[in-house]
Amino acid sequence: MKFKVIPSHIAVIMDGNGRWAEKQGKKRTEGHRAGATAIDRLLDVALEYKIPAISLYAFSTENWKRPITEVNAIFNLLIEFIDTRLDDIQKKGIRIQHSGNRSKLSKKVLEKIDGAAKATQKNKKIVANFCLNYGGQEEILSGFHRIQAARKESRVPLDKPISPKEFEKYLYTHPLPPVDLLIRTAGEQRVSNFLLWQIAYAEFFFTNTLWPDFGRESLEEALVFFESRKRKFGGLA
Ligand code: FPP
Repeated sequence: MKFKVIPSHIAVIMDGNGRWAEKQGKKRTEGHRAGATAIDRLLDVALEYKIPAISLYAFSTENWKRPITEVNAIFNLLIEFIDTRLDDIQKKGIRIQHSGNRSKLSKKVLEKIDGAAKATQKNKKIVANFCLNYGGQEEILSGFHRIQAARKESRVPLDKPISPKEFEKYLYTHPLPPVDLLIRTAGEQRVSNFLLWQIAYAEFFFTNTLWPDFGRESLEEALVFFESRKRKFGGLA
């Protein structure tokens, strides 16, 4: 398909892995595994349409409330994803980024995601931003603390007003552009603490498709929707 406008940054809330598994009489973990395959498809179509940045909500600051077996399964899938896909990701020119709080992530997970980010740092085609132990509120608070610490260090008065442009440098997603399109699968219509700052003027696309079933057609449907939106950014035209 041909599109007149392509979003610079798509954020995806990959919901419905559990329901997909339940429908098939499989374990929830199998739903997450099928979800990882849907990420492969998404990145391939994103490369084709030259979508510069994709943020994937893989594990939120609230997902620790899930049973430890499921938490471990998601992180093991992430490790497996990097181990089995890194060469291909490298060949395709995809840059890997991590957004989220590092403190609760295991040494192994940090080693993998940091290693993948380092290995792909010069890649220019598209960015796949894995949001792990990510929460929008936590990101904003931690950004504020870090900007104040930097100001203290360089003796800038702490009460000097902070401009949005300056603040954005302290978000986990830096240097990614604002989100143009937020996609949430599995019929839920909530933001769930995802990229709260970055979605200020995003268009929202909700689909009943469960994440493991998401593919080319679903993304094209979202791009058709995006192209049809008249974006005014608070102005009149
Ligand atoms: C939401 O579905 C999904 C998650 C919380 C985890 C997302 C993880 C993946 C897509 C796979 C992990 C792999 C990599 C490579 C990061 P849900 O479990 O809440 O589904 P439900 O609402 O139907 O139960």
